Amino acid sequence: MARIVVEDVYKIFGPRPREVLELARAGRSKGEILKATGHTLAVAGAGLEIDAGEIFVIMGLSGSGKSTLLRCLNRLVEPTAGRILLDGRDITALSPRELLQVRRERFAMVFQHFALLPHRTVLGNVEYGLEIRGVEPARRRRRALEALEAVGLAQWADSYPGELSGGMQQRVGLARALATDADILLMDEAFSALDPLIRREMQDELLQLQAELHRTIVFITHDLSEALKLGDRIAIMRDGRIVQVDTPEGILARPADDYVASFTEDVDRSKVFTARNVMRRPETVRESDGPRVALRKMEELQLSSVFVVDRERRLRGLVTADDALEAARRGDRTLAGVVRGDVPTCQPDTTLYELIPTIARTPWPVAVTDERGRLVGLVARVQVLAGMAGQVRVEGAGAGGRPGSGGGVEGGEIPAGTGRGGSGGAAARNAQGEPDRPGSGEGGEVSVAGGER
Ligand SMILES: Nc1ncnc2c1ncn2[C@@H]1O[C@H](COP(=O)(O)OP(=O)(O)O)[C@@H](O)[C@H]1O
Ligand SMILES: [Mg+2]
Repeated sequence: MARIVVEDVYKIFGPRPREVLELARAGRSKGEILKATGHTLAVAGAGLEIDAGEIFVIMGLSGSGKSTLLRCLNRLVEPTAGRILLDGRDITALSPRELLQVRRERFAMVFQHFALLPHRTVLGNVEYGLEIRGVEPARRRRRALEALEAVGLAQWADSYPGELSGGMQQRVGLARALATDADILLMDEAFSALDPLIRREMQDELLQLQAELHRTIVFITHDLSEALKLGDRIAIMRDGRIVQVDTPEGILARPADDYVASFTEDVDRSKVFTARNVMRRPETVRESDGPRVALRKMEELQLSSVFVVDRERRLRGLVTADDALEAARRGDRTLAGVVRGDVPTCQPDTTLYELIPTIARTPWPVAVTDERGRLVGLVARVQVLAGMAGQVRVEGAGAGGRPGSGGGVEGGEIPAGTGRGGSGGAAARNAQGEPDRPGSGEGGEVSVAGGER
């Protein structure tokens, strides 16, 4: 079950929001409504499901309604219409007292400019949230120290905010949120005021913390690269409407419209896409198969090499057509004498960026292996280049979670024909032995699997 469900939420600012609601429901735009009524349509029919333990990013240009939507989640802003469900419970129906309790127990917020109390020490600031929750002194002190430890500021506990840099102050803000038991963190442009280096550090730190803490984080940013780095999923807002919800890969691979596409133009895809997104099904033989079987397979499929696996599909190495021929001439019974064990390998979540040096160095395709050393895919130069050009097939994000997480090899196939040109010496032959053509279908696909010499 989703932790937070946002159901058809509207927020209209102005004196008579309910009257304006009809216009918004009829699909009139934020601009039209402002012109006709003087009201601001800040959030328009937003629907979302945020899963427990994910980092859910809301992204969009300034004024697109991100902060308003975020504040609707804990009703710091009262929605004009729609429902917010927290673990299935409708929080738009809570009494003020119940609401206060839910807000304190479940939510913590981190803002761009974290209002630290200047006359309290760092520790005092982190304790503050617990103090207003009524936690007794010894316990809140311990929790605050733990949170400071987590963000690397324990030795600054007795300093005052004024003695800290901006990045450190933001860490105190994060520690203050972490110190509470709140399992949902609402972070509104939390890193946007930091300079780029510190900002990247904070992003890394948040990811690290999250790997241990598994909180549910709703993170707002207007910066796509931040969204791509942090988000398990990303919702993109425009003029109050949610125009796309997808994984980072999905946003890049198939932007819903020109607005989304315009965000993604400058993105370095090689740092977002992984081997899983581009890998193909590898052709394999077993060591016991012997050179003739391997040769026949390579000839059928027009491959110059093929991976060798054991009974459990663990990678043993690679055998080339030349070596297999040699072995066959010698009368070898198995492939043992000609298996090359020094094949480059990577994991499914290795980024294309990390793969570039390997791909540049090796004449062979890279074997993608899982944590048990089993061969799950192959990546050749063609796939890396196509992936960087954005030609990646990514499974739908509908069910939540990252695509291809099942490790399915099929999920990572790129459209046929993307290997055209650009691949230098790696140009693949298709099944007819002709140069690969755009859209050449099955032929192109098979040829890539080891056509690389
Ligand atoms: N309290 C408010 N009163 C009137 N208009 C508001 C208020 N808060 C936000 N808005 C308007 O609602 C729209 C969305 O604002 P906001 O949610 O702050 O966007 P974002 O966080 O994406 O920059 C903007 O047009 C903004 O001017
Ligand atoms: Mg905002």
